[in-house]
Amino acid sequence: MAWRRCFRFDVAGLKQTFFITGTDTGVGKTVLTTLLARFLRKCGVNVAALKPICSGGRDDARALHAALEGSLSPDEINPWYFRAPIAPLLAARRERKCVRLADVLACVRAMQKNFDLVLVEGAGGLLSPLGVFYSGGLRLSQNPPTLTEHRPSKSFDSRDLIVALGATPMVVCPNRLGAVNQVLLTLETLPKSFRGRARVVLMSPPNPDVASATNAKLLSEFFDTKRIFVLPRLGEKNEAKRVLQNPAVELTLRTLMQV
Ligand SMILES: Nc1ncnc2c1ncn2[C@@H]1O[C@H](COP(=O)(O)OP(=O)(O)O)[C@@H](O)[C@H]1O
Ligand SMILES: [Mg+2]
Repeated sequence: MAWRRCFRFDVAGLKQTFFITGTDTGVGKTVLTTLLARFLRKCGVNVAALKPICSGGRDDARALHAALEGSLSPDEINPWYFRAPIAPLLAARRERKCVRLADVLACVRAMQKNFDLVLVEGAGGLLSPLGVFYSGGLRLSQNPPTLTEHRPSKSFDSRDLIVALGATPMVVCPNRLGAVNQVLLTLETLPKSFRGRARVVLMSPPNPDVASATNAKLLSEFFDTKRIFVLPRLGEKNEAKRVLQNPAVELTLRTLMQV
């Protein structure tokens, strides 16, 4: 189909990194990342999908592994994982470990070299503490990433990764009452240049409320309407393959990548 050729042409040679973050944990980041990975592979795009840091289980890494149909191993998709179902910074501390920002950046940058498009799923929300900038009081990198702002803590979060990687943020939020506030808070937290190219993805809830029908329009009074997307509710098992046969969903995903 013509648009598939067109899409392939647009991403070829353009090293792009999309960072899938959200207004909270459990909002649909993995659902979106796996859908995008499947969609892009279907379009012939050389795509990687990473969840660098997991805590409380590796289900997300397994979902991405399935979506990539084995092109990356679970350990490549998810190099750092910790047992406790709490913020990764704390979960790692419980195991007397820490994730260093420089190591995460090195891991993603290696993928950027080998793939045309890299999807990175964050853990938790935009400011969930993931690991440490420094170790033993020493800077870990001779070329430290741009820090977003003065920070009271030595920990890093998804916002720091987005900035250091120059990634395009995707902000996922359940499409229910409260979404407009949560999305605007998250967008406001991003540096202006990143906010300007961010995408907002509203995930349809199992039981839509009145707000579900009006959130996108209200949000468009504050944020570029072309960058606001609504994804339908998937079936119980997410039925990714069937969903991707829906032309409306394909069009949404394609526009999401190209807008
Ligand atoms: N559009 C959707 N269709 C079906 N289920 C969804 C959708 N969005 C989220 N979910 C469900 O919500 C739960 C949390 O989604 P998940 O992608 O794991 O969130 P996160 O990665 O942000 O923690 C999962 O059970 C997932 O299947
Ligand atoms: Mg997830």
